[in-house]
Amino acid sequence: MRKIAVAMAKGGVGKTTTAVNLAHDLAMQGQRVLLVDCDTQDQVAKFLGVTPAYGLYEFITGRNAKGESILKKQAIHPARENLWILAGGINLVELKNWLGEQPRERRHALLSKSLVPKDNTLDFLIFDCAPGWDILSVNILMAVEEVLCPVALQAPAIEGLKTFFSYLISAQKLNGRLCLQYVLPTLFDTRTRQSAELYRKLKRLFTKQICHPIRYNVRLSEAPAGGRTIFEFDRRASGAQDYHKLTRRLIDDGVRSQQVPRFF
Ligand SMILES: Nc1ncnc2c1ncn2[C@@H]1O[C@H](COP(=O)(O)OP(=O)(O)OP(=O)(O)O)[C@@H](O)[C@H]1O
Ligand SMILES: [Mg+2]
Repeated sequence: MRKIAVAMAKGGVGKTTTAVNLAHDLAMQGQRVLLVDCDTQDQVAKFLGVTPAYGLYEFITGRNAKGESILKKQAIHPARENLWILAGGINLVELKNWLGEQPRERRHALLSKSLVPKDNTLDFLIFDCAPGWDILSVNILMAVEEVLCPVALQAPAIEGLKTFFSYLISAQKLNGRLCLQYVLPTLFDTRTRQSAELYRKLKRLFTKQICHPIRYNVRLSEAPAGGRTIFEFDRRASGAQDYHKLTRRLIDDGVRSQQVPRFF
């Protein structure tokens, strides 16, 4: 199972759009995906048009807001074929307080242990991270091996990248397996010189990690209003084509990395 955090400290760069569309496309390609919403804004469920009764808070603490016991499987909500979600929401504020009360080792092991199914039935565990940097972000980076970092092709986002990398380096000291696997340029406006220049700069900086950019596409911003992914809303939109390229890259990389041990 691959564990990927879609993360970037700056807000509004396309993290949720990426996490939701990628997760759905992976699921449509036959991969079994659990998408975890780590944001109090609770956008993942809205983007997918579902209303789960419980989410990440109940999954981790084992109880609901009334203090009643909850089974883990009650919190995992089927959103599409092959795609399950753990919803975010305002009670993640309380989860962060609760995490703060746990001893550090237990806290860091919590997400990594509890989210891995014992029967090995998942192919991808994807976290949609909140903007900013808090105790939950740190815990997610303790639970994953790969980071997919969406970067909006606008000057302030590049600045945000520097700050975010200093966070990643500090997280790598605690989780040696953590690596920045993908840098995904988003909101690529093909008409502006600024977008093209920033894309070129990113390509130079991240020769291995750079992904095919996601173009600015108004259909991507319209799809969530109806609770649909871009593949359900408008398959022919440039947003669908661009996100499908990202899906193919992730699947192809997975095949490659599985092949490596056979060589040795
Ligand atoms: N490629 C795109 N083209 C046009 N609009 C986009 C694109 N990607 C995202 N958007 C829109 O930009 C806004 C921000 O996107 P999104 O919510 O995915 O960002 P985010 O990084 O998750 O934000 P936050 O940090 O607040 O969680 C949304 O309205 C979304 O529909
Ligand atoms: Mg978001």
